[in-house]
Amino acid sequence: MKAQVPDHIKSIVPYPPGKPIEELEREYGVKNSIKLASNENAWGSSPKALEAIRQSLSNLHRYPDGSNYYLVQAIAEKDGFSPDEVVVGNGSDEIIEFLVKAYVEPGDEVITSHPSFLMYQKVVQVRGGINKVLPLKGMCHDLDAIISSVTDRTRLIFLDNPNNPTATAMDPGKLYSFLSDLPESVIVVLDEAYVDFMDDEVQIDVYSLIKNSKGRCGVVALRTFSKAYGLAGIRVGYGLMSAEVAGYLHRVRQPFNVNQLAQVAAIAAIKDSEFYGSTLQGVREGKAWLQEEVEKIGCTSYSSQTNFFLIDVKGDAAALYEAMLHKGVIVRSMKAYGYSNVIRVTVGTTEENQRFLHTLQECLQNLGYIQ
Ligand SMILES: Cc1ncc(COP(=O)(O)O)c(C=O)c1O
Repeated sequence: MKAQVPDHIKSIVPYPPGKPIEELEREYGVKNSIKLASNENAWGSSPKALEAIRQSLSNLHRYPDGSNYYLVQAIAEKDGFSPDEVVVGNGSDEIIEFLVKAYVEPGDEVITSHPSFLMYQKVVQVRGGINKVLPLKGMCHDLDAIISSVTDRTRLIFLDNPNNPTATAMDPGKLYSFLSDLPESVIVVLDEAYVDFMDDEVQIDVYSLIKNSKGRCGVVALRTFSKAYGLAGIRVGYGLMSAEVAGYLHRVRQPFNVNQLAQVAAIAAIKDSEFYGSTLQGVREGKAWLQEEVEKIGCTSYSSQTNFFLIDVKGDAAALYEAMLHKGVIVRSMKAYGYSNVIRVTVGTTEENQRFLHTLQECLQNLGYIQ
């Protein structure tokens, strides 16, 4: 008899990443493609991080520092937390896994929204937990519906803020009152992968939420070096949480979960305020330009608190996605997420934005979506 796989594993649909450039060029025979599909940093990585990686190459025969000592110190200092309130992961994806491993038993419930970041549900499925998935309301997390679905089996609530893929941020006041109504037995995970791009007035005071959770749910904030810091390829992210929660996550993590190059790169990236600042400026300017231009050619752009935004292309998004692939431009169709006329695009460099716009216009005309 063949080895048996449990049904909750069989039913998992693997995460669909944005199409890699190499795959597109191999399959479609196109050259000089651009990828604006995975919300990466268009300007590359911090030169200081790259130099730190080079310096560290002679040490690869050693295991990395399993405590991530210097990186934890650097994050704690940057965000104003103490080191025992920081847990570092192989991408913030890994912190999602730690939380589910530590807090969810088979049959426990985890609440997420749809559409939102897909990894939450997959990790819960692996664990044999029950996903309670609630539709967004007006493209935002429906906090009223979420609170109504909490039961005594609810362990975690994942809220990506801003939400991926809609790029919307929650109203801070509404979030605070939602949190104050939740029981102590629930942990709310605020996934702030795009926090660096948010306007000041929608920033959440995660410091106070984590430090003062008496009588209500605990809060964990997730952050990443994959976006504003340009280190998606080396995989490093972290969580901010109470020392008690951190203690449980350390119990479920591998001893060397963050590799040595990732550790030195992230430390250097934190210190590279020039690269960080120019990334934020590039995103701000590129997004404003793109949003204005797509409106001029007859599309509708949605407002965004991130380095990506949604565009209503006035016709089938999947067909447009395919047409753009043939011209070497990779975006995301939101059709599978329930938005049949919508694509998601990541803000690129000036040249990439121009190429995107030109290709978009050409494909929209060829498909007859615009004149
Ligand atoms: C909302 C959200 N959370 C988490 C992640 C994963 O980030 P990381 O690269 O740190 O694993 C992403 C990546 O796109 C994301 O969009």
